[in-house]
Amino acid sequence: MSIADALRESPGAERGVVAGRAAVLSSPGGTFTIEDVSLQKPRRDEILVRVVGVGVCHTDVVCRGDFPMPMPVVLGHEGAGIVEAVGSGVTHVRPGDHVVMSFDSCGACPNCARSAPSYCYNFMASNFGAVRPGDGSTPMSRGGGEAVNARFFGQSSFATHLIARERNTVVVPKQAPLEILGPLGCGIQTGAGSILNSLKVGRGDAVAIFGAGAVGLSAVMAARIAEASHVVVVEPNAARRDLALELGATAVVDPRGVEDVVAAVKAAGPGGVTHALDTTGIPAVIGNAFQTLLPNGQLGFVGMPPPDAMLPVNIMDMLVRGAGVKAYTEGDSDPEVFIPQLVNYYLEGRLPFDRLVKRYRFEDINEAFDDTVAGRAIKPVLVI
Ligand SMILES: NC(=O)c1ccc[n+]([C@@H]2O[C@H](COP(=O)([O-])OP(=O)(O)OC[C@H]3O[C@@H](n4cnc5c(N)ncnc54)[C@H](O)[C@@H]3O)[C@@H](O)[C@H]2O)c1
Ligand SMILES: [Zn+2]
Ligand SMILES: [Zn+2]
Repeated sequence: MSIADALRESPGAERGVVAGRAAVLSSPGGTFTIEDVSLQKPRRDEILVRVVGVGVCHTDVVCRGDFPMPMPVVLGHEGAGIVEAVGSGVTHVRPGDHVVMSFDSCGACPNCARSAPSYCYNFMASNFGAVRPGDGSTPMSRGGGEAVNARFFGQSSFATHLIARERNTVVVPKQAPLEILGPLGCGIQTGAGSILNSLKVGRGDAVAIFGAGAVGLSAVMAARIAEASHVVVVEPNAARRDLALELGATAVVDPRGVEDVVAAVKAAGPGGVTHALDTTGIPAVIGNAFQTLLPNGQLGFVGMPPPDAMLPVNIMDMLVRGAGVKAYTEGDSDPEVFIPQLVNYYLEGRLPFDRLVKRYRFEDINEAFDDTVAGRAIKPVLVI
């Protein structure tokens, strides 16, 4: 019996409980345990999804340890799956649809109204609160009914089933490989969007990308799509530098192998770059990235910095070059528009993000986290 049928036939259909399993984190910095859980049936604007694959993003790593989260919690914000049931108010998503879940947004603030949901005024509550922002409730429980916070990024996708919202659920074509599409919802969208939507790199521009993890390498592929003339990648990991070259970088720099990173990047471009993107969150690297800019150049940064970090940029230096610096969230993407675009690029062979993916069994989630922290996996995907 499908879950949708079970929901209809369940004697307690009011509560409509769905049984599943989730990787629960019960203490900060702890390990995940796969547990039996119950999910409520979707509310009016909610969607029940059976998860098929989910990516691990560096932000999950930060939220497992350093960033304060309400425990117990289910993380995971790069889910892909098949819709099992929808609430009565859902109009654009149907049972059976293949979907990717992205970040959530309120839909009511001025930035949501102007199709800039990644700058939603309620972004923090909608994504990092891990509960429904409206009433603080959660759709998941374990054991004898203990609440488990399961609305991380409006999804909590380290689970067999999740409850998302129409606002953060994007229908994708069935010919694309659903199992690995989840990372389009965050890491890949952030890297590609930073180049195409935020920095608006165009033909003949020179780009420097600092850090070649999943975000930086997605930026490399996007810079190639944008027909940048120079794509210079700075990355200490040799395997990642090699992959960057295969994906379209025109030059790579090992920051530990050169005396002056700024000079090396300038030499690899036309005396500097028109656009720079930092994905490391390391203040000194952001300072170097700024120094590589040509007049009127733009620096964007997306990496999570240490909490007390300040920008190491000299204001006079900025003024005399008319250079800009801005933080970008989720590559300025409107997921509803941008994710289908990314799927098309993939199907056309222009965004081969499958090259970044390493598959793990759901049960091996702790190993996937260890591998991402150690730099052994660029984009782990848990297959569920
Ligand atoms: N702003 C957003 O919307 C958003 C969205 C997704 C991810 N993120 C953040 O973006 C960052 C990148 O994510 P990721 O998944 O690619 O992480 P990652 O850890 O895989 O990538 C970072 C890369 O930087 C490299 N690096 C380390 N020191 C360096 C140096 N001195 N110079 C150059 N490179 C150096 C690392 O070797 C690594 O390859 C993370 O901090 C993540 O939390 C932000
Ligand atoms: Zn909003
Ligand atoms: Zn992420």
